[in-house]
This record gives sequence, C-alpha cells and structure tokens, in this order.
Amino acid sequence: MCQSCASSVSVSVSGGDSGAQGGVPEFVGRLVGVINSAGLALMISVGHRTGLFDAMSEGGARAWSSEELARSAGLSERYVREWLGAMATGRIVTLGADGRYTLPSEHAAWLTRRAEPNNIAVSMQWIGVLGAVESEVVWAFGHGRGVPYSAYGRRFHDVMADESRQTTVLALDSAIVPLVDGLHGRLERGARVLDIACGKGLAMLHLARRYPRSRFVGVDLSEEAIEMGRREAAGVDNLELVTGDVTTFGGKDEFDVVTAFDAIHDQAAPDRVLANIRRVLKPGGVLLMQDIKARTAHAENLDHPMGPFLYTISTMHCMSVSLANGGPGLGSAWGREKAEEMLHAAGFDGVSVHELAHDMINFYYVCRAG
Ligand SMILES: C[S@@+](CC[C@H](N)C(=O)[O-])C[C@H]1O[C@@H](n2cnc3c(N)ncnc32)[C@H](O)[C@@H]1O
Repeated sequence: MCQSCASSVSVSVSGGDSGAQGGVPEFVGRLVGVINSAGLALMISVGHRTGLFDAMSEGGARAWSSEELARSAGLSERYVREWLGAMATGRIVTLGADGRYTLPSEHAAWLTRRAEPNNIAVSMQWIGVLGAVESEVVWAFGHGRGVPYSAYGRRFHDVMADESRQTTVLALDSAIVPLVDGLHGRLERGARVLDIACGKGLAMLHLARRYPRSRFVGVDLSEEAIEMGRREAAGVDNLELVTGDVTTFGGKDEFDVVTAFDAIHDQAAPDRVLANIRRVLKPGGVLLMQDIKARTAHAENLDHPMGPFLYTISTMHCMSVSLANGGPGLGSAWGREKAEEMLHAAGFDGVSVHELAHDMINFYYVCRAG
C-alpha cells in the first residue's frame, strides 16, 4: 500500500475523519471508504444468507456474545466472531463495553427478513454474484463478445427472485396493478396474462393465486429458473411456466396483458421482443414494463443515488449477457429516453411513465396497444 494510503488508513482507523487531514488527499480517503464499503457489502450479504441478522434481531435489540449468537443461528462461533468484527468496525452493530454485540432496531429495520420489503441486505447479494464472474468480464473487455447467462449459474436466479419478491411481488397488489386503469377488475373477471422473461415466475404465481378467473403464462429461456418456479407453483392450475424465447413466443392477439419485469434491457434482441409483445397483445391490450430508473446519457445520471451500482451491474451482467448473444448490449442504464423511443418504434403509442415510492431503482411504463 502506498505511503499516503497507509496514512489515510491510520487516520481512518484512529476514528478521525478520513478526509484531507495530515495532507492526505481527500480522494484517498474516499478510496479507503470504497474498499471498506465493498467489504461490508459482502459481509452484509453473508449476514443475510446465514440468517445472522434475523437471529440477532429475534425478540428485539438484545446484546449477544459471539457464542450465544453462533448457538442461536446454528453456526460456527469462529466465523460468527469474525463477522461480528466486520459488523462492529463497520458500525452496523454496536459493541458494548462488556464485549457483547447488538443490532440496533433502527438497523434491523433494513437488514432482516422481517423488514421485507425494506431488507436492503437482499441487494448486497449482487456483489458476490458479480464478483464470481469478474475474470470472464475482464476477458470480455478484450474480445468484446460478452459473458453468457450460463456463466452466472443458478445463483443468479436465486438472487433475482429474492430481489424481485421485495421490489415486485410484495408491491403488486398495493402499487403495481393499480398503475393500470381497470386492470384489477379485468383480472378479477378473467384475462390472459403473459409475463416475459419471468425468471422463477414469482410475480405470476402471486397473481394467479389472487385472480383465479385469469390465466397466467410465464416464459423464460432458463430451464433452471422455470424448474425452480414450477416446484413453487405446484397445484396452481391457472399458471403455466414454460421454457421459451420471448422474441417469438405466443400467438397473435393472444393476451390481454403482458408484463416485463426487469426483462427488456438485457435482451439480445430487445427491439424484436417489444415487437413480439405488440403482436401477441389483443387490440386494447396493455404492456406493463418495469425497467431501471435512469436517463440515457451518462451526464444525466451523475447525481443518480445508485449510479455507480447501475453501471457496475450493467457491465458485470446486463450489458454482457446481451452482447454474448449478439445483442446491442443496451445496459441497465439504457434510460427512459431510449426506452420510450423503442416502445414507440414497436407500435405502442400511449406510453406513460411512473415512479413508485417503494422502488427507488425502477420506472414503470404503462403502454397501450392501439
Ligand atoms: C433480470 S432477469 C429478470 C427475471 C424476472 N422477470 C424477475 O423480475 O425476477 C432476466 C431474465 O430474462 C431471461 N431471458 C433473457 N433473454 C430471454 C429470452 N430471449 N427469452 C426468454 N427469457 C429470456 C433470463 O433467463 C432471466 O431470467
């Protein structure tokens, strides 16, 4: 580590401001903050997956020794103690003078399964998923031909479903369905609904249970995702989860409603997918599209609260999987301007764009097939 980095670290470790003190450039302090935050993101993901946050918050904000916490969570004490070191130095948990650790309730409100849909620990899982393909992505910077979906394995679909349960499934009834005038009534009376690139299909599973007179189809290229989804949907008769390619899937005028949750920007042929959606929608049908809240130009995203993360997940996944299949690599921050342009080109004239209070990462496009 360079001399100024080392002195910046010592400033930071001694509890002071890691900024411009002692002649250390403010930027070095920021970089030290970046590496600490990156480490914490991984450790928060581990805390979520191992159930440690849930165990710590069981019965309210109480103080734990590492032995008690390990016993309660059924985990190795040595690992739990080291994790607590990261959590305490990262000020996620507090360390008392008696050597016991507490997860404050105001932190538990954003880190536990009981906190859903506000459990931000779920999103921290992306750092590990993306880190697992770093070498493939570095290689792709040279050859430019992307990284295929298969490189991300089953774990991608697990984390995607975890994320989508919070962002999409839990908000369907209260916020997402009401975005489309008359949709609730239409679904109650009985409609044909297609979810394109559905992943495990959790959104359709929820709607199929809620609206028994409607029929739902979820389609995804991934056999693994569809297989996992079918297991969860066993016994739900008005839902079909099928493996297929959404550039061609479905018959003309077959569906009243098409949904696309976080599913267009990483397509290999997003223009053909949108045209196909237009084709399978009945006249008067509606496309409800959730996609990343960003503008198309980098300059317009400089103050985006999650800008660096959006371009990271795009480089490490969304853009790369599209390029791997010969696509344009729109990227996750393809932005509202590009999205509206492509929707119009596909034949959707009435497009309205919405933001929802629970979801800081997506826009919701309601698109009418004239
Ligand atoms: C970002 S994930 C979103 C999954 C799901 N909609 C959700 O919100 O959880 C994108 C999905 O698109 C699927 N996919 C990509 N291209 C596809 C295509 N041409 N046809 C069907 N599925 C596709 C992938 O397998 C992946 O499951």
